[in-house]
Amino acid sequence: MINDITSILEKAIKLHSLNEREILYLLKTEKNDKLFSAADKIREEYVGDEVHLRALIEFSNYCKQNCLYCGIRKDNTKIIRYRLVPQEIINLAKKAANYGYKTIVLQSGEDLYYTVDIISKMIFEIKKFDVAVTLSIGEKTFEEYKAYRKAGADRYLLRIETTDEMLYDRLDPCMSLKNRMNCLEDIKKLGYEVGSGIMVGLPGQTLESIAKDIVYLKSIPVDMAGIGPFIYHPGTPIEKSECNSFDLALKVMAILRLLMPDINIPATTAMETLNPNGRLIALQCGANVVMPNATETQYRRHYEIYPGKICPGDSPGHCRFCIENKIKSINRYAAKNKGYRRIIN
Ligand code: 5AD
Ligand code: FES
Repeated sequence: MINDITSILEKAIKLHSLNEREILYLLKTEKNDKLFSAADKIREEYVGDEVHLRALIEFSNYCKQNCLYCGIRKDNTKIIRYRLVPQEIINLAKKAANYGYKTIVLQSGEDLYYTVDIISKMIFEIKKFDVAVTLSIGEKTFEEYKAYRKAGADRYLLRIETTDEMLYDRLDPCMSLKNRMNCLEDIKKLGYEVGSGIMVGLPGQTLESIAKDIVYLKSIPVDMAGIGPFIYHPGTPIEKSECNSFDLALKVMAILRLLMPDINIPATTAMETLNPNGRLIALQCGANVVMPNATETQYRRHYEIYPGKICPGDSPGHCRFCIENKIKSINRYAAKNKGYRRIIN
């Protein structure tokens, strides 16, 4: 076990492998700049200067689950629920493809209104626009995942949220860590690109458990890892947390880049919610993906997983061009390809 920042970073850069205690050391260090510049260098070397844009369509905020941290949880009666009909979703996807997006991400709460048949048909239609399709619709059975894959879905996003079983059981009632891990295994088996990730700064979450999360994400191994700082939502029963979840999220992201140099890592929207420059900062600490919102303006504010989400009054077109300009401002550029993970051995 090495225990000074320079040697740990050297090892990470050379071997892309660290043990749990070394990861913990990096999580605890105050020398963030060294970690961030190492991650930025590795990002440049392995995935280059292109930034992949994924158009996010939040098509329903109905959810049968009751995650304590989440603003669209079933028991939150204070939000207005909406659900788009398949043709609206397909039209939005077409619009996004016309804006030059090469990936469409379909995201919703766990909404049983959308049957396997409905989702499969949507995927099939959207694939005609020459885009990659990512699903982010929660826990399903193997057979359902299989049907979506057959319909043409390329990627699946399912954050593990935390691998700390006690924390998981407390925050995600009626769900189980074991089942979520099984879902990720199923997704992997079916040949999807696997996207997962965690939230950081949850009340009761320890740095030790985050180090374990990182080891878990590498063990899958994920093709994409999204790290979101936890943001307290007043409509939820969870308590506030004291930690600086923005900095911690950046650190987790940077460590993941060092350990999995060729994966896709988004600069998450939650980061920008906590810091007006959050996504550009993240893109310079290891990230290479941004997921701009392509949901129509009138629905956006109701998809309130956490408060203060960015661009609530903007249109899909506005977000598309705004983000491209921001990316150019740091001498990077929006990719024109579908942005699959290119595995580099
Ligand atoms: N703060 C930040 N992120 C959250 N998510 C859910 N609730 C919150 C919150 N309060 C994240 C979860 C989920 C993703 C869609 O949003 O990680 O997987
Ligand atoms: Fe379902 Fe959050 S409780 S998406």
